[in-house]
Amino acid sequence: MATAIIGTGNIGGTLARHLVRGGEPVVLAAKDEANAAALADELGELARAVSVEEAIADADTVVFAVWLDTIKELLATDARMLEDKVVVDPSNPLGFDESGQMIRTLPEGQSSGSVVAALLPADAHYVKAFGTLVADQLASGSNREPQRVVLFYATDDDTAATTIERLIRAAGFEPLKLGGVAVAGRIEVPGGDLQGAVLDLDEARAALAGEVPA
Ligand SMILES: NC(=O)c1ccc[n+]([C@@H]2O[C@H](COP(=O)([O-])OP(=O)(O)OC[C@H]3O[C@@H](n4cnc5c(N)ncnc54)[C@H](OP(=O)(O)O)[C@@H]3O)[C@@H](O)[C@H]2O)c1
Repeated sequence: MATAIIGTGNIGGTLARHLVRGGEPVVLAAKDEANAAALADELGELARAVSVEEAIADADTVVFAVWLDTIKELLATDARMLEDKVVVDPSNPLGFDESGQMIRTLPEGQSSGSVVAALLPADAHYVKAFGTLVADQLASGSNREPQRVVLFYATDDDTAATTIERLIRAAGFEPLKLGGVAVAGRIEVPGGDLQGAVLDLDEARAALAGEVPA
């Protein structure tokens, strides 16, 4: 089945390109369907553009590549559609104030991952992933040689872990589990010590072991 990517901006667009290059079918949705359609046209037969609800219905894995406030809005109407699906969350506790300045939107110490996971049905398979790197790093880091770049993920769910490892490899990266949702804040900004860390597997394992700062 295809992977749904909701949001085709910096993160969603980059991820869609990587996954299609890795042979994974994707269904794309954006606020303006024309934006998803333009990307689907560029990506060819492995990509289709549909509405948010159609994308969720057509996929067994759903990536919410939108801002945290948008995830909350979408889950307010669509959460039940996510029963038994893998939900991938790259979000940060960030939003914009009235003047367009980027601001932290959650209290210090509360992760975006903990908020999103709590809004899902009990049988959804939540994983924090694909927000580990800033978008430019995600775009340029795929299929690096000779050592692939690690993408950390955080989950408490075995089904989500199996799926995200496959998708991270298909996208041209090396997966490494950081821990459960309780430590998701380590791969979020602001404040996450592992966010933006471009590491190979040995370097990433050393960083997790506390041997070297990431
Ligand atoms: N940018 C980074 O470096 C980075 C790094 C790590 C994590 N993240 C996280 O990744 C998420 C996405 O960031 P981004 O930089 O990719 O954002 P972005 O470039 O602003 O893209 C946001 C996307 O969300 C879509 N969208 C907005 N409202 C929607 C709705 N109601 N239904 C469906 N789609 C909707 C937009 O659609 P339109 O195209 O039609 O406007 C757009 O495609 C955020 O949570 C961010 O914190 C970003």
